[in-house]
Amino acid sequence: MKDAQDVARRLDAVDYLTDDGLAMALFLAVRLGKPLLLEGEPGVGKTAAAKALARAMDTTFIRLQCYEGLTAGEALYEWNYQRQLLAIRLAEAQGSRLTDGDLFSAEFLQERPILRAVRHPGPVPPVLLIDEIDRADDEFEALLFEFLGEAGITIPELGTFTAHTPPIVVLTSNRSRELHDALRRRCLYHWIEFPAPQRAAEIVRRAVPTATEPLIRTATEFVGAVRGLELDKAPGMAEAIDWVAALSVLGAADLAGDDVLGTIGTIAKTPDDRVTVAAALGTPPAGSVLGTYQGGQCSAPTRRVSREAQQ
Ligand SMILES: Nc1ncnc2c1ncn2[C@@H]1O[C@H](COP(=O)(O)OP(=O)(O)OP(=O)(O)O)[C@@H](O)[C@H]1O
Ligand SMILES: [Mg+2]
Repeated sequence: MKDAQDVARRLDAVDYLTDDGLAMALFLAVRLGKPLLLEGEPGVGKTAAAKALARAMDTTFIRLQCYEGLTAGEALYEWNYQRQLLAIRLAEAQGSRLTDGDLFSAEFLQERPILRAVRHPGPVPPVLLIDEIDRADDEFEALLFEFLGEAGITIPELGTFTAHTPPIVVLTSNRSRELHDALRRRCLYHWIEFPAPQRAAEIVRRAVPTATEPLIRTATEFVGAVRGLELDKAPGMAEAIDWVAALSVLGAADLAGDDVLGTIGTIAKTPDDRVTVAAALGTPPAGSVLGTYQGGQCSAPTRRVSREAQQ
């Protein structure tokens, strides 16, 4: 990767469209070997960025999905107790005894995503995605400090493993809770914005090549405008793609006709959102389907509601 433009070009080649800011952040993460923390609203392409980077570099992709209660045993490594027990029984049957050194050896070590990334043989570093770190308990973050700072893991029984080829680490968060300063300090940081209308349309175009231009343009524009409404779950790029794909399958050439309302389940995911989005479209039979949607703005009350404010 020569520079940020090169990163953007390579990501484009695997259908991930980035802006200058994200391309630079990814370039620096690769070149400086520092973890990158990506934040942004749901559906802006945080997870997809890490996946695309691995594809663009033609390297191994390793994913750690975080959730409440995630433990070191699931994220770093675990001892294979069943195999240890079997080995003890076998040794007993043969009249011998296994020592702790025998039992807590590499033979009984089970790699989990982070140790797998540390022990990756290279020569191209793998991309490790630590997805939705804000969902893990905050104590879990402390488990990552050594790895994030030194690309190593200490296993008390075996010593410290340090990566030959340090992995490219991408962490994502939806800011459902604050992360430790100590974690932020160890990472580069980038906030991903929703793509501008032209790039949003290009993303949809790549994902749904069969869709017509008017459908892509009006649907992405409408989804962009709908994000400004007071919604329980603002639609992201995935929803925009689903909507255009659904309408395209139904043969719609643009954002008109009954199917527009019939498919809003792809972009509105709660009963209240259905009502709000349907109102923004203009519910038939009163007038056109796009009754209140004039392009660019929606007529329902606009108030941007952050995820935190809703919690
Ligand atoms: N810049 C982009 N280029 C190409 N596709 C994109 C881009 N941004 C988003 N997408 C598409 O949108 C979908 C949703 O993106 P993704 O799952 O990465 O969002 P996210 O930010 O991780 O959301 P969440 O916070 O809900 O996990 C992806 O599967 C991808 O198809
Ligand atoms: Mg994600």
